[in-house]
Amino acid sequence: MPDQLAILDGVVVPAAEARIPATDPGLLRGDGVFEVARLYAGRLFAWEDHLERLVSSARTLRLPLNPATVDADVRTLLQAADPIDGAVRVLVTMGGTRLAMIEPLRKHADSLTLATVTYAPTRVLDGVKSLSYAANMLAGRVAQEQGADDALLVTPHGRVLEAPTSSFFYALTGDQHLYTPPLDDHILDSITRRRVLALTGATERITTRDDLARLEEAFLASTLREVQAITAIDGAWLPATPGARTVEAAARFRAHVTEELAAA
Ligand SMILES: Cc1ncc(COP(=O)(O)O)c(C=O)c1O
Repeated sequence: MPDQLAILDGVVVPAAEARIPATDPGLLRGDGVFEVARLYAGRLFAWEDHLERLVSSARTLRLPLNPATVDADVRTLLQAADPIDGAVRVLVTMGGTRLAMIEPLRKHADSLTLATVTYAPTRVLDGVKSLSYAANMLAGRVAQEQGADDALLVTPHGRVLEAPTSSFFYALTGDQHLYTPPLDDHILDSITRRRVLALTGATERITTRDDLARLEEAFLASTLREVQAITAIDGAWLPATPGARTVEAAARFRAHVTEELAAA
């Protein structure tokens, strides 16, 4: 079997041969929902959480979606595929296309630099992981044009939010606590963020652009990168890279994954 397999409307095919109709609103307007769940040696991590968020995203978009069918697709796909370290990408479009695809893991560096990019969340899409991701992708490219690895999204009013595909955690100089911007600021309810909050005792804190000058350490968190240290923001190096709380969060998250997979 080739590494990259997909299941399209219930039929397993090589991912490169999966086709969606050119008329599908998922393609034409980004009208649809998606999830990316991690595979550790072929085993799904936090799949129930991803499926639940997919259902909730679909409900908000008024998109018909049967979770049992999506779950069955993913189970069939995994049975047909090699047990790799990677990810399963699942998408369901307003045109009714159901696609799940196995992707090999793209190696993330241990640390990265960020540049702030002005961004205003689309309120009507609150809590939705929709296929309309061009703004997030563009923010990353704009940051790269400024010489950084990725973007840190900041609203026109100066609220620090998240990165285009990950959550933001930080500690302030002279303060032992770990913080993350609040969901009330219309960021994604990231599954890794939920776990890191529980594992580290971090708390939500309204975060402003001014806070960035007071950072001691910071990291990004997501399904694909787990915990990734941030070394600089807008060219200003953070004092601690990686900081002790970042190293601890990474270790706790890794142990949590191992534990949860062992218990499954
Ligand atoms: C905007 C945004 N924030 C955060 C995340 C991290 O979410 P998760 O931990 O569920 O992968 C993602 C993932 O793609 C994202 O797109």
